[in-house]
This record gives sequence, C-alpha cells and structure tokens, in this order.
Amino acid sequence: MARPIVDAEYLKEIERARRDLRALISSKNCAPIMLRLAWHDAGTYDAKIKAGGPNGSIRNEEEYCHAANNGLKIAIDLCETVKSKHPKISYADLYQLAGYVAVEVTGGPSIEFVPGRKDSKVSPKEGRLPDAKKGAPHLREVFYRMGLSDRDIVALSGGHTLGRAHPERSGFDGPWTKEPLKFDNSYFVELLQGETEGLLKLPTDKALLDDPEFRHYVELYAKDEEAFFEDYAASHKKLSELGFNPSGSKTVKDGPILVQGAFGVTVVALVVALGYWYENRRLLKSIR
Ligand code: HEM
Repeated sequence: MARPIVDAEYLKEIERARRDLRALISSKNCAPIMLRLAWHDAGTYDAKIKAGGPNGSIRNEEEYCHAANNGLKIAIDLCETVKSKHPKISYADLYQLAGYVAVEVTGGPSIEFVPGRKDSKVSPKEGRLPDAKKGAPHLREVFYRMGLSDRDIVALSGGHTLGRAHPERSGFDGPWTKEPLKFDNSYFVELLQGETEGLLKLPTDKALLDDPEFRHYVELYAKDEEAFFEDYAASHKKLSELGFNPSGSKTVKDGPILVQGAFGVTVVALVVALGYWYENRRLLKSIR
C-alpha cells in the first residue's frame, strides 16, 4: 500500500484524530488496551529482514487471531470509529497515535508524533511477540530482533503501569499496580516490593529483577520517575518508528515548501543567467 502523503491537510487530520482519540480513550477508560494494540502492531518488527513493525497489519484477521493478540479486536474496533471519521490517516499512524494518546491522557510523557507510516496487508508469522512465561534470554532475543536495547526492554516494560491481565485472554489475572489507569513509575516500585496481594508479576517481569543489567534500570526508574519518563518516551518513540524512515516520507510542511521554493527560484535564476550569457556570446560573435 502507498505511503500517505504528509501534507498540511494530513497533519490537520492527525490533530483532529488526536482530539477524537483523547475523548474516546477518556470516556471508555481504554488507554491500557490502546497502548497494548500499538505495541503489538509495532513489536513484530524484524530488523534483519526489515519486515513487520508498525504497519497496521494487526487489523488483518489472520494477525489479530494470533494467541498473543487475544482481546485486541476490541481496540481495533474502537480505532475504527476514529478511522471512519478520518479515512485519510493510515491504520499504522492511527494505532501508533492511539498509543501516544493513551500514555499522555493517563499522565505519562508527551511524545512527539511523526506521521507517514505505510499500511501493510501482509501479516507476520505467529510467534514474534514475547512469551510472558519465559525469562531474560527470551526477552533479549525478541527485543534485539527489533533492534532495541536492554534499556528499551526495561523502560518499555514500564508500560505495565497501565492495565491488567485477563484470564480469558492470556491466562494471567490482575493489574501490576494499584492505579492501573495512571501512568507513573509504580510498576518498578511494586516490582522491587516483591509479592503484593492482588498485584501481578509475570515471569518476564520477574526476569527484570534477576538479570543484573535489567535490574540496574528497574532500580533507577523506581527511584527516579523523571528518568523513567525520559527513557520511556525515547523507547516508545523508537518502538513506534521501527522500520519507518520519517525523512523518507513525503512530508510537505512549511519548511520543505520554503526550501522547495528557494530551490525553484535559484534554478530559474540560473536558467535566466545562462540564457543571458549565451545570447551575449552570440551577439559578440556576430559583431566580430
Ligand atoms: C516485555 C515483554 C512483554 C510481555 C511478556 C507482555 C505480556 C503481557 C500480558 C500477558 C498481558 C495481559 C494481556 C491480557 O490478559 O489482557 C499484557 C498486557 C498489557 N501489556 Fe504487556 N507485555 C510485554 C511488554 C509490553 C510493552 C512493551 C508494553 C507497552 C509499552 C505493554 C503494554 C501492556 C498493557 C498496557 C497491557 C494491559 C492491557 C489491558 O489492560 O487490556 N506490554 N502484557
């Protein structure tokens, strides 16, 4: 599918969709599942073969029926209500924008959104997303395949500050934090606290404590929320732009138009000057 042309109208449409998403997410309290949707669309990326990633392919039945995506059809359908009002916007952009808005409206960091992602009808094979029953080597295998680092793994795991697990979707049950609709660093605080009744710790969450490299970041983020927000915003942006080269997209904003304008004027001036020089030379030759 073609890459959307990011002109002034597309940017306006993104802002309108952002407002609709804010209203939708606040009224339905669906920030957690919107964030999970954005992450599961992006998290299939394979940096070696440059396939998967945030390309909207999770809307294909074949992909949302993968076991790891259980329950995400709810978020896909919610996004469809926004897509029908803003059909120009690619699904890939819409899902990532929904993830940004989910983080922002629950009190997390604001992340600068760069639009222009292309939709794909091709879904990756099942098994690219992490398995919650596994440990640190598995986490590294999956996130390194995306081109992400240890720091990204821990910062992004802090996304579990929102939401909960549902037995009928994943077999796990309960929230990670006491306020699952508030984006803060409490995921790390609770993780270090050990078992607290009613709060969830997946085997992959526990792996962040057992591995010294991971644990270093867990301790940092538990005591310094600002450091967490800063790293989370950077890692989330990376995740949402995997395989997407914004500078390669056809961005037509004020800047590039001005640049194009200046370039055009220079070319015209050069052509006129050359014509003038050629005509003069011809005249001089004819006089001699
Ligand atoms: C590190 C590897 C990860 C594993 C193994 C994992 C696993 C899971 C599991 C098993 C659930 C429960 C699903 C359910 O039953 O509804 C879940 C929910 C969730 N995950 Fe993750 N996840 C990981 C990383 C992430 C990342 C990177 C983010 C976002 C940045 C994220 C955001 C969420 C959110 C917000 C929910 C709650 C959804 C809801 O309340 O409906 N997860 N995750």
